Amino acid sequence: MRLFPLVRPLLFSLEAERAHRLTIDLLTHMPGRPARHDPALGVTVAGLDFPSPVGLAAGVDKDAEAPDAFLALGFGFVEVGTLTPLPQAGNPRPRLFRLPEDRAVINRMGFNNGGQEAARARLAHRAGRPGIVGVNVGANKDAADRIADYAAGVRAMAPVASYLTINISSPNTPGLRTLQEAAALDELLAGAIEARGADGPPIFLKVAPDLATADVDAIARVALDRRIDALIVSNTTISRPPLRSAARDEAGGLSGAPLRDLALERLRDFRRATGGALPLVAAGGIASGADAYARIKAGASLVQLYTALIFHGPGLARRIEKDMMALTKTEGHQSIRTAIGSDR
Ligand SMILES: Cc1cc2nc3c(=O)[nH]c(=O)nc-3n(C[C@H](O)[C@H](O)[C@H](O)COP(=O)(O)O)c2cc1C
Repeated sequence: MRLFPLVRPLLFSLEAERAHRLTIDLLTHMPGRPARHDPALGVTVAGLDFPSPVGLAAGVDKDAEAPDAFLALGFGFVEVGTLTPLPQAGNPRPRLFRLPEDRAVINRMGFNNGGQEAARARLAHRAGRPGIVGVNVGANKDAADRIADYAAGVRAMAPVASYLTINISSPNTPGLRTLQEAAALDELLAGAIEARGADGPPIFLKVAPDLATADVDAIARVALDRRIDALIVSNTTISRPPLRSAARDEAGGLSGAPLRDLALERLRDFRRATGGALPLVAAGGIASGADAYARIKAGASLVQLYTALIFHGPGLARRIEKDMMALTKTEGHQSIRTAIGSDR
């Protein structure tokens, strides 16, 4: 029996951020081993063997409190963070809004997190346990030198990260997205790669969906030149497609169903701009096996989700995995690997 339809009204009766806090608290008491996955779902990216391409996106478990619980729920990997060098409170509440009629969320959290040191200790505590846990790093809002914050984050978190994500695409830290401009991005990535050292973890870069073709081309060029390991496409959007829910005019980043087509379009743009030379991770509005499979065919090696979990509950990763596998077989592929980029 599916329990979530019964629990959902209870969670939705709480203010959104309280419901989120309660969920994370419950999950910290739910240890467990990573779920088992059909071997046909395995994908290797940047030298890491992902048992399933369906991952938890950054922002759900910002402080690395419950990565093992999410792995036990069926996610093939978990990305914790965004973590900044120093703890920071984020924007005033309320700052997280459900848009139920749109299957969407608007957030302006502003990198609220307990800082890298605390998360590093938690992750060090789970060292040796199975499961891929990536660490997403960002800059403090009032950092004198934001680029230096990324290098510091890479240095601090590399020892406990399966991979690192450089997040320059949050719309909720004023000016952060300007780091996507070629010259700044080049300097930032050079610093991050140097900070990682010779045998540190792979580095992924997470971009916004709100990019013109010229921006996509410039980012792809720098990412290829600097030889980063993967691109995550994408973060939330500052654009506003038509929305119906009461909270539609809130400021912040929009995620969920209304982001789906935009994120898929941007994924295709990056596929074209990189010529397949750089692994892509798709995020934005993925809520079903069909959504996930469409991204895989468009060139993503991995997918991530956040907002759909709020509406569909903790069984979603498993359902997506099962439906995606069925679609893969229907289209004549023996494994997900051969389906990647197959709709060119
Ligand atoms: C409440 C909330 C907080 C988020 N926080 C972060 C974050 O800290 N770092 C980050 O890289 N992305 C963050 N994201 C973006 C998600 O990781 C994801 O890229 C985006 O929401 C699109 O996926 P979705 O439509 O499945 O939610 C956040 C999203 C939401 C809804």
